[in-house]
Parts: sequence; structure tokens; C-alpha cells
Amino acid sequence: MNGQEKPYRPVPSRPIARGRRVWLRPIDEGDLEDYCAAINEHEPGWWAGYVGASSLAQTRRWYEKTVVERHGVDGYWFTVCPLGSDEFLGQIWVWDIDHRVRGAEISVYIAAPGRGVGTDAIDAAVDFGFGSLDLPRIFGFTDEHNQRSLAAFERCGFVVEGRLRGAGTHAGRRTDLVQFSMTLDDWRALERPRSWELNQSDPPGR
Ligand SMILES: CC(C)(COP(=O)(O)OP(=O)(O)OC[C@H]1O[C@@H](n2cnc3c(N)ncnc32)[C@H](O)[C@@H]1OP(=O)(O)O)[C@@H](O)C(=O)NCCC(=O)NCCS
Repeated sequence: MNGQEKPYRPVPSRPIARGRRVWLRPIDEGDLEDYCAAINEHEPGWWAGYVGASSLAQTRRWYEKTVVERHGVDGYWFTVCPLGSDEFLGQIWVWDIDHRVRGAEISVYIAAPGRGVGTDAIDAAVDFGFGSLDLPRIFGFTDEHNQRSLAAFERCGFVVEGRLRGAGTHAGRRTDLVQFSMTLDDWRALERPRSWELNQSDPPGR
């Protein structure tokens, strides 16, 4: 637990959605202050698409309307934690599951970027999306200047598939958003252990 004021959150020894160093759990009320703090910082907030300042009250409303009502229905809103702890490192969503343009969107931010957490969380989320939800495709997009995000997604096996011309803003100028995706076949071709294989190789109860 992070502190007595936060609700009790059990920490599984063999989490369902996990990477090599992190695991994913549904966002809960105890995360909202950390969430609000992260999205109001230029890094990671701006790059993650939070262009206006958000209050804690707005964050709580979003949580009630989105996470409480929709988690497990048409999306999954996860907090990223280190294995063996419920500490908040950031968030990753597999969301807006669409049955017409089939697949789902992935969005992520890490409160302290550049330490290898984001790529591990993306691996865990795509294993969950393809391996548990049976999605045919997962896509995301970011500003063309967001080199770290583009590098992170490409490293995880995403492929750039197009540009949303003029849909972004960066440093006071119109920019393109770059859209990337991973298909089920791309995911199957990845040569890395999946979430459930990592659980098999770890000793029980870690
Ligand atoms: C994008 C993000 C989730 C990646 O998580 P992270 O923990 O920073 O990522 P990692 O440390 O695992 O790795 C990022 C990759 O980018 C590279 N990288 C790191 N800093 C970089 C920089 N300033 N410019 C370019 N590449 C960079 C790393 O070298 C690494 O690639 P490599 O493993 O091939 O060397 C995180 O940086 C973030 O939250 N950014 C702000 C919000 C955002 O952009 N969200 C994504 C919108 S879709």
C-alpha cells in the first residue's frame, strides 16, 4: 500500500497482465492524485494529449464516468506498477474497443519517462490485448515530434501506418500526428516471452 489514506489494493504474486518488471492493475480511486499530478506536468502530460490543466474534481468525474462504468466493457484502464508493489508509475489504456473498425486504441504515459518502464508496460498491454481480449489490431498515435514515444512503440513492434495531417499542435504550430499499429500477426511474430510465460519462469510467490 502507498499509505493509510489510500484504499487497500491486493498485490498479486503472479499478475495476469505483466511485463518483465511491471504489472498492470485497474486504476482505482487511490491513484487519482498521482494521475492528476502527472497529467498537469508538461512531461508527460502534454505529450500524452492533456492540453489543458485538469483539476482533481475533473479527474474524479472522468474516473467515475470512464473507469468505473466502462472498464471491462469496451476498454481497460490500467495503472502501471513495479512487480510486487502497487506503487503508481503511470497508466496504460487499451480502450475504445471498436467492432466496426475492429481493434482498440492504446494510450500510455509514465510519470518518470526514459527508464525502460514504458516499453515494458506496452509489451504487457499488447499481450493482454491480443492474448486475452483476442483483438485483431491495436493502434495508437502521437505527435510527429514525440520521438521517445515513436521509439518506444517501434521497439515494441508497432509499425507506422500513416499520418493525420495537421491534427496536432506543437510549440505553437500545426503538426501531424503519426499513427502506428500492431496486428495480431505482427504480435504472433514477436520473439519475446509473453506475460504468461514470464509468470511460468518466475518462482511462485515473488
Ligand atoms: C512514451 C513513453 C510512454 C515511453 O515510456 P518510457 O518509460 O519513457 O520508455 P522507455 O524508457 O521504455 O523507452 C523509450 C525508448 O525511447 C528512447 N528514448 C528515450 N528518450 C528519448 C528521447 N528523448 N528521444 C528519442 N528517443 C528516446 C529510448 O532509448 C527507448 O528506446 P530503446 O529502448 O530502443 O533505446 C513515455 O516516455 C511517456 O510517458 N512520454 C510522455 C507521454 C507520451 O508521449 N505518451 C505516448 C503518447 S502515444
